[in-house]
Amino acid sequence: MLDQKVIELLNDQINKELYSAYLYLDFSNYFYDEGLDGFGNWYKIQAQEERDHAMLILQYLQNNGIKAVLKTIDKPAAEISNQKSVLVAGLKHERFVTGLIHTIYDAAYSVKDFRTMQFLDWFVKEQGEEENNAETLLKKFQLFGDDPKSLYMLDSELGARTYSAPSLVL
Ligand code: FEO
Repeated sequence: MLDQKVIELLNDQINKELYSAYLYLDFSNYFYDEGLDGFGNWYKIQAQEERDHAMLILQYLQNNGIKAVLKTIDKPAAEISNQKSVLVAGLKHERFVTGLIHTIYDAAYSVKDFRTMQFLDWFVKEQGEEENNAETLLKKFQLFGDDPKSLYMLDSELGARTYSAPSLVL
């Protein structure tokens, strides 16, 4: 049986990951409307990955005999004023999620819940990648976003991103 605090945090994280999916869907929607379909594609795939994160945590709880409680998903809250503001909000959000994962890890560590720590190791690594992806995207936009031809090339590059299922199997 998992520790109650760890269960609560994992349960909340399902909601946070689904919110992340919703937020990135909002970003995707914005970029498609701007005519930047590559950016729209990139965030749509990001949304799919976030849904996967939620499903993995749900599965982990189920594997441990815990019935998750699904809660209301908030409306996407990021204020979008221009294209760059979306990328900045994406990076800020990933840093926030990293903090949430670390909080769960901390709770598992404090009760010597090695099983959950081992499960979360994948998420810790994944957050490193997610933050790096968001930082790289923002950097590229800052370098090339002001020039229409370069922006077109960057948009084409992002349009080539394809979805792949998570490497973690439970
Ligand atoms: Fe599931 Fe992007 O954190």
